[in-house]
Amino acid sequence: MSDLDDVVGSVHAVAAEVRANLAAHAGGEGGTNPSGEAQIDADVWADERFFEALSALDGVGEYVSEERETAVDCGTGYAVAIDPLDGSSNLASNNPVGTIVGVYDAELPAPGRDLVAAVMVLYGPYTTSVVAREDDEEVVEYLLDGGEVRRRSACSLPDDPTVVGIAGKRGERSAACDALVDELERELKLRYGGAMAADVRQVLEYGGLFGYPAVEGHPDGKLRVHFESAPLGYIVESLGGGSTDGERSLLDVEPTGLHDRTQTFLGDAALVERVEAALGD
Ligand code: AHG
Ligand code: MN
Ligand code: MN
Repeated sequence: MSDLDDVVGSVHAVAAEVRANLAAHAGGEGGTNPSGEAQIDADVWADERFFEALSALDGVGEYVSEERETAVDCGTGYAVAIDPLDGSSNLASNNPVGTIVGVYDAELPAPGRDLVAAVMVLYGPYTTSVVAREDDEEVVEYLLDGGEVRRRSACSLPDDPTVVGIAGKRGERSAACDALVDELERELKLRYGGAMAADVRQVLEYGGLFGYPAVEGHPDGKLRVHFESAPLGYIVESLGGGSTDGERSLLDVEPTGLHDRTQTFLGDAALVERVEAALGD
């Protein structure tokens, strides 16, 4: 077992536990996270469960979470960055949520180029995990069924994109972004659910584009580089798709703080090129 095997195995073990206990933690309130957002009980509880498991591994040197102000030093090894519950506001209405993990071979802050693996768990009608690793040419999806982990398939991005989901309200995005969204929503079917793990999973299935652009209230976009944008950029680019902050690959965004945000677009490579043509300087 390699250190990466341990990290991925540990994420899968805790994810099964999270799945089994989501309902019990869906209702309560938490505090405020370092991004200034209200937490619910499930955010704090899931973070604690992932922390206990991942920080105990020999191969993990640093645990960095969307729910914690600072990095926790756990010895030597990979830096693990985690969004313990992605889309947690979806719990109130019983819509999908996820867990996103980036494994960096560098102390954070660091760009996505230092990622050696990324995991995207989706707690939908069933629980799946998409894993991209530097030591595996394939991006593999697993089914997490109770305590069992079964390989489901090798992932691939369809050639013919069909769905689009871009966050934000018309008039609160830039005029250039609104114009592009109008165009894309005429060509593609709208799919936006409010948890990027679920929305990106649809892009992997049907082909297309997910985005969270700069909006009023979030001038750098809402999504966080270390926990959300770079790990999912790593997965999508490993599949031959594209990612961009409007100008460059999400893997080339250089965060200076642990909780830095970035504009985020992920999916079909040609659609990502159109985003850069429309939004780039
Ligand atoms: P989190 O629950 O980890 O804060 O993430 C929510 C994120 C992301 O998953 C999703 O794409 C986006 O916020 C949804 O935001 P809106 O409600 O503004 O659409
Ligand atoms: Mn999130
Ligand atoms: Mn979260």
